[in-house]
Amino acid sequence: MAVTAVVGLQWGDEAKGKIVDLLTDQHEIVVRYLGGNNAGHTVMFQGQTYKLSLLPAGVLRPGVTSVISNGVVINPKALLQEIESIRSRDVVIHRLLISDRAHIIFPYHMAEEAALEKGRGDQAIGTTMRGIGTCYRDKAGRTHAIRMGELVRPELLRQRLHEVVPQKNLVLHALDPECPPFDADAILSEYSGYADQLRPHVIDTSAYLHRALADRKSILFEGAQGSLLDIDHGTFPYVTSSNSSGCGIHPGSGVPERAIEKMIGVVKAYTTRVGGGPCPTELLDDIGQHIRDEGREYGTVTGRPRRCGWFDAVATSYGARISGVDCLAVMLLDVLSKLDEVKVCEAYEIGGERTTDFPSHAVDLARATPVYRTLPGWKKDIQGVRKLKDLPTAARAYLDAIAELVDRRVEIVSVGPDRDQTVIV
Ligand code: IMP
Repeated sequence: MAVTAVVGLQWGDEAKGKIVDLLTDQHEIVVRYLGGNNAGHTVMFQGQTYKLSLLPAGVLRPGVTSVISNGVVINPKALLQEIESIRSRDVVIHRLLISDRAHIIFPYHMAEEAALEKGRGDQAIGTTMRGIGTCYRDKAGRTHAIRMGELVRPELLRQRLHEVVPQKNLVLHALDPECPPFDADAILSEYSGYADQLRPHVIDTSAYLHRALADRKSILFEGAQGSLLDIDHGTFPYVTSSNSSGCGIHPGSGVPERAIEKMIGVVKAYTTRVGGGPCPTELLDDIGQHIRDEGREYGTVTGRPRRCGWFDAVATSYGARISGVDCLAVMLLDVLSKLDEVKVCEAYEIGGERTTDFPSHAVDLARATPVYRTLPGWKKDIQGVRKLKDLPTAARAYLDAIAELVDRRVEIVSVGPDRDQTVIV
């Protein structure tokens, strides 16, 4: 494989980590191009489980270069803690490159986010409280943004913090008069220490990736979150603050989409969502709880229980179109194995009209009633299956329904958490 991308097509947590992990061996460079330490994925390597957040999956493999590109927002303290936790387990991080254009998360970003979320009351977005949205907000606003290239230049960092922090304190005081002010020198001293540790990794990663393309190196783009959390195309405002669909690869890395030879869309065999916002197929009953228990559906980063429901083909096919994926990887199929019947949402009814278009506005999505296609369950343990032909007929019919409704071929099916519990179609 030369240049490949793996993106989630739902609301995140599609188990992209397992697919990225499977593909990492076949690539020389792995790129994380968006989001920050709001994301989390679990990777198995040499029989051990690693929970990664900011670091690309490539860090565990000798010979693979890991790149954190410009579209990522970096909390340097969290990044260094993650590096340390990997090193403490005797994993040598061979080559980690960090973009000088990536934006930095400071403590005032978390404080600002807490005040903004509190202010929205029951309309809160339900963010991960990692300062992600407020850092991207500063990136778009420009005047208060500080990038990695400034963090690693001591004089520039001093100057920028002394400009930004007093203004941030004014804003924070207006949002929440009880918020204690931040001290520019204290932040400077803390962040200068982080800068010293990160400096050797910092380069112009766009230039590096373009040289790699010219040298025909194999590159894997590792998506975070999912297409329906995309700031432009997702369920706004209940989204993350970056282009978390396939649309984000170009702005987030500098590599144009035309360079990507294969785009794999990862979906769960059902739907989950964390945080606020409508989720038409959500099940608030025993089946929803059953899926949550069987799929261990609790957030990797925040531990929050995930909202669970039937597979939503309207939402997922929209995600597939927006991201431009070539095929599907269907994950966690085994989670549905004990159910008598399974359902796929094939259309919505909104205001008495049937549609397969995904609404642009959260208020319309909140009014959508799912129209289900009901299929028989397979009622059989499938975790030992390795070939498509060995899956129960009902499970294959379920995969066929997903492929038909999302209009993409299913190329990978995951039937358990381990690497080898995978069916390549
Ligand atoms: P933020 O990214 O922390 O600003 O959170 C915005 C929304 O995206 C919230 O609903 C979060 O729960 C959701 N979100 C952010 N990261 C992830 C993720 O990795 N998986 C699933 N949902 C996420």
